[in-house]
Amino acid sequence: MMEANKVSESRMQAIVVHEYGGPDVLKLEEVDRPNPLAREVLVKIHYAAVIPLDWKIRNGWMQDVFPKSIPYIPGFYAFGIVESAGPGVTEFTVGARVFGIVNGAYAEYGIAPVNELVKMPDGLSFEDAASIRAGADTAWKALFTEGELEAGQTVLIHAAAGGVGQFAVQLAKWKGANVIGTASTANLDFVKSLGADQVIDYTTTAFEDVVKEVDLVVNSVGGDTENRSWAVLKQGGILVSLTQPPSQENAQKHGITAKFNTKFPTYENLQTIAQLIADGTIKAEIDSIFPLSQTNKPLEKSEARHGRGRILLRINSF
Ligand SMILES: NC(=O)c1ccc[n+]([C@@H]2O[C@H](COP(=O)([O-])OP(=O)(O)OC[C@H]3O[C@@H](n4cnc5c(N)ncnc54)[C@H](OP(=O)(O)O)[C@@H]3O)[C@@H](O)[C@H]2O)c1
Repeated sequence: MMEANKVSESRMQAIVVHEYGGPDVLKLEEVDRPNPLAREVLVKIHYAAVIPLDWKIRNGWMQDVFPKSIPYIPGFYAFGIVESAGPGVTEFTVGARVFGIVNGAYAEYGIAPVNELVKMPDGLSFEDAASIRAGADTAWKALFTEGELEAGQTVLIHAAAGGVGQFAVQLAKWKGANVIGTASTANLDFVKSLGADQVIDYTTTAFEDVVKEVDLVVNSVGGDTENRSWAVLKQGGILVSLTQPPSQENAQKHGITAKFNTKFPTYENLQTIAQLIADGTIKAEIDSIFPLSQTNKPLEKSEARHGRGRILLRINSF
């Protein structure tokens, strides 16, 4: 593998996918650095988030929703430093520390539209910043934008130890809700430490046997977990699915509103979340950090669907 400092200034190392498939299709290559166009910046990427969407796309499962022109550089979300700016950028100067959407984030540099970046507040760590998008922002949308969660209500959060679930538990508690989470045995104490009032071990207990009459279910597991969730909601409750459009037929049968989590977070949502993490109100658990040269490993880990918090790639260091 090439050393990063041997790559010429107009070139960079990146993970390139030339065909859909398993972890072996991820190739570390030297490619041209992209140039920012109007209202875009070039970001020197320090940490990129490894999220389930990355392996779903790589496997070729998302071609209808997220079509890619092959070859492509995977990755959507990162923390990094603004390296240069295209025309018309007034929001960020070179050297600004930012997090947000960076297209092709599994690379030393990537392009970000300025309206998709947020300036780092003081006190936020770089790793934590990289865990916000597709994690805390998704939890925010599911709980508050789609789920309409209010203080005093009860929410059941499936996969409460995951990259989204860890934030959903904490944000729901911050809002003043009663929180029930599901996790495997190894993650019960972790979810409890996030503030959950009740944690159900999904490997030993069917959640529908012990949960009743909740106001909201946030389901990032899908499938059978969705089918079993209808019965635990009260009439007029809300189910928010993160994995697929939920069955409207079942929702109607149970008198429930069922939504697919598709909304985007606002800039204010992202700023609020970043500040909550920066001031220690909520925390970000990082499952593990891998170098760019071993990208297949974190993606295999993510695809195994077990873990605690967000997996990251460390790309450039300071
Ligand atoms: N629509 C959107 O806007 C949006 C945004 C982000 C993510 N998503 C989707 O949401 C899903 C979750 O994302 P993520 O980033 O949180 O994934 P993740 O970090 O990979 O989630 C892993 C977690 O799932 C838990 N888990 C696995 N099977 C479970 C089960 N049967 N019951 C309860 N928990 C279970 C694991 O817990 P244990 O280790 O304890 O088993 C682990 O903590 C993915 O499918 C992703 O694509 C959608």
